[in-house]
Amino acid sequence: MSAEQTATEAFDAIDVIRAKRDGGAVPEPALRWMVDAYTRGYVSDAQMASFAMAVFQRGMQRDEIRVLTDAMIASGERMSFAALGKRTVDKHSTGGVGDKITLPLAPLVAVFGVAVPQLSGRGLGHTGGTLDKLESIPGWRAALSNDEMFAQLQGEVGAVICAAGSGLAPADKKLYALRDVTGTVEAVPLIASSIMSKKIAEGTDALVLDVKFGNGAFMQDIDRARELARTMVELGTDSGVATTALLTDMNAPLGRAIGNANEVRESVEVLAGGGPGDVRELTMALAREMLALAGQPDADVEAALDDGRAMDRWNAMIRAQDGDPEAALPIARETHVVTADRDGVVTRMDALPFGIAAWRLGAGRARAEDAVIHAAGIDLAVKPGETVTAGQPLFTLSADDEGRFARALDALEGAFAIEDASTGSAAHVEARPIVRERITAEGTAS
Ligand code: URA
Repeated sequence: MSAEQTATEAFDAIDVIRAKRDGGAVPEPALRWMVDAYTRGYVSDAQMASFAMAVFQRGMQRDEIRVLTDAMIASGERMSFAALGKRTVDKHSTGGVGDKITLPLAPLVAVFGVAVPQLSGRGLGHTGGTLDKLESIPGWRAALSNDEMFAQLQGEVGAVICAAGSGLAPADKKLYALRDVTGTVEAVPLIASSIMSKKIAEGTDALVLDVKFGNGAFMQDIDRARELARTMVELGTDSGVATTALLTDMNAPLGRAIGNANEVRESVEVLAGGGPGDVRELTMALAREMLALAGQPDADVEAALDDGRAMDRWNAMIRAQDGDPEAALPIARETHVVTADRDGVVTRMDALPFGIAAWRLGAGRARAEDAVIHAAGIDLAVKPGETVTAGQPLFTLSADDEGRFARALDALEGAFAIEDASTGSAAHVEARPIVRERITAEGTAS
């Protein structure tokens, strides 16, 4: 760094770090400078990591979170869908195990004439990525130009799921990678500003957030998930993006498929009017929220799933991105079935270890540059609340290399429980709804 460059900097990173470390609020100009100077490379990774840890421990006031979000938006391009002449609604999930909801949801909402721009990501660690799942479909292409995305949204299809361009909130990209390796991911101000900077920069009119809680989510307990949801709803509302959040249970995997190709198969079942009850229920709940924000609170989403309109949109959406919706999906070379060791009710299947096991089978990646194995994953034969008899299959592991089964099985040690049907927890598990609370700009409802 030259002497002139140093002389022109308006603030000192060390002062900003100290202010947050000591529990104070960072003034707006200093916070904006910190984000900008980090993006330019003037503030070092070590300084930013220290600041992120101070935020993790001390938190941020509402105004600071707004400024941080705004500064991250200002670090890159802002898209606009105003020229489409249609309402745009997006959905974002904070990430879970078996969470394939975007796949049936985007075409379902598009049936009602609303444009759905789903700029999605790839999986890292135990949570899957929407683009990885869709890339199981032969020919399907995640990278679209802005013109292609617009054409797809404007025309008959009306929905697009594609890779977010690197121009959106580059400050977040750099900061997120740093947080990932410095133990500073799970902080409400940092998660909220990270997610919302990208969503606001994307230019959607409205946004529905699926905020997960439970052992497979960033936020283990519902109170912290609620705080995250409220913070994001406020950020969206303050920026003119109509935003609603649902708090949803991520204690058990969503649906029966965890992986990539198998999650596409399950999504197609939902689009055909079937599929696991929890996937169908959450798809419809999120679709209703999205359509309500787009001015269609009475849209009959159930009929659109059951009469084939959502499936027609799906086929059109996949074809528009060069995929073949009729093509066979990859199947793994090896399988390993785990069976029940006793009669009873499955009271628990913890999402996190199932996510880790699927990752170890090859469905996820450890480093951003790794490839995923699309056929790898886990298929659940039973879900919590279901009755089993000894010897009955519980789930099947799939991999291309049977050497992967041992480490996946290690992750699953103690991850599920079978209890006598007469115990209290066996009765309790059947009663849990997937959507627990709804959070809007006006408040919270159960
Ligand atoms: N997803 C994001 O985009 N950012 C976070 O901080 C966490 C999840």
